[in-house]
Amino acid sequence: MAQAVPSTAPAGAPLVEIRKLTSAFDLPGRRLVIHKDLDLTVNRGEVLSIVGGSGSGKTVLLRQILGLEQPAAGEVRILGQPVAALSRIGAASRIGMLFQHGALFSAFTVLENIAFPLRELKTLPDRLVEEAAMVKLQLVGLKPADAKKMPSELSGGMIKRAALARALVMDPPLLLLDEPTAGLDPESSDGFVRLLRSLHRDLALTVVMVTHDLDTLFELSTRIAVIADQKVIVAAPPRQVIAFRHPFVESFFLGERGQRAMELLREFPFAI
Ligand SMILES: Nc1ncnc2c1ncn2[C@@H]1O[C@H](COP(=O)(O)OP(=O)(O)OP(=O)(O)O)[C@@H](O)[C@H]1O
Ligand SMILES: [Mg+2]
Repeated sequence: MAQAVPSTAPAGAPLVEIRKLTSAFDLPGRRLVIHKDLDLTVNRGEVLSIVGGSGSGKTVLLRQILGLEQPAAGEVRILGQPVAALSRIGAASRIGMLFQHGALFSAFTVLENIAFPLRELKTLPDRLVEEAAMVKLQLVGLKPADAKKMPSELSGGMIKRAALARALVMDPPLLLLDEPTAGLDPESSDGFVRLLRSLHRDLALTVVMVTHDLDTLFELSTRIAVIADQKVIVAAPPRQVIAFRHPFVESFFLGERGQRAMELLREFPFAI
C-alpha cells in the first residue's frame, strides 16, 4: 500500500532546502566536481528559475532534488525530509519532473504515457487510473481524441504537454522543468508558457525551472538562481539578478540579450 504523504509542508517550512551540497562524478583517474557547498532554498508558491552555463550542473541539481543523484556531501530536503530517505513513490507523489529531453514511451499511447506513474503504484483500479489521466490530459490543453494517439503522431508542443500531464498525474506540490520551451517554435513556446503560468496559479504549484530562454525566464520567474563557480552565486528577483556583478551574469543578461531583458522587465512588472 502506498502511504499517505503530506502534500503540505509544516507551516513556514521551505519546500526544498539544499545545504552545502557537493555533487561529484568519479571518472576513470579523476573526480569531476560539479557543485561545491551549494545552498538553495525554494519557498512554497514561487517559480524559481535556474540559469547557468552549459555543463554548470543545472540538470544535475534537478536530479539531486528528485533523489536521482546522491550528494557527495551536504543534504537535500523536500518538505522537511531528506530526499535520500524518501521512497520512490514518496518522491513521485511530491515531485513532478519534465525532463530536458523528456521523451514519451514511444510504444505507449498518450493516455498510457500519462497514466504510467499511477499505474505503477498498483493501488487504483484501471478505470480510475484512466479517468485521472484523462483529467490531466485535458488540463494541459490536449483533446480527448489525442488520448489514443501514439507519440510519433504528435507535434513538439503536444509532446511537451503530454509529458507535463504525466509529471502532474500524481498531483505533486512541486514541479521541476528542465528547458520546458527548448526546441519549440515561438508560437508553441508562448502557448506552453501561458499554460505553465495558469497551472502554477490554479494548482498552487511550486515550480523550479531550468531555462536559458529569456522570454520564458521573465514571463514566469518570481526569482532567478544563477549557478556559477560550482555554487548558487545569487538567488533573487529578476531585477536584482540583472544588477548582480559577475562575468556570467553580465554575459547572460547584458550585451545583445540585455536590451530584450530590459524590455521584458518593463512588460512583466511583477519581476521586481
Ligand atoms: N552521470 C554522469 N557521469 C559523469 N558526468 C556527468 C554525469 N551527469 C552529468 N555529468 C557532467 O556534469 C556536468 C553538468 O552536467 P549537467 O547536465 O547538469 O549540465 P547543465 O548545466 O544541465 O548543461 P546544459 O545547459 O547543457 O543542459 C557536465 O560536465 C556533465 O558532463
Ligand atoms: Mg541540462
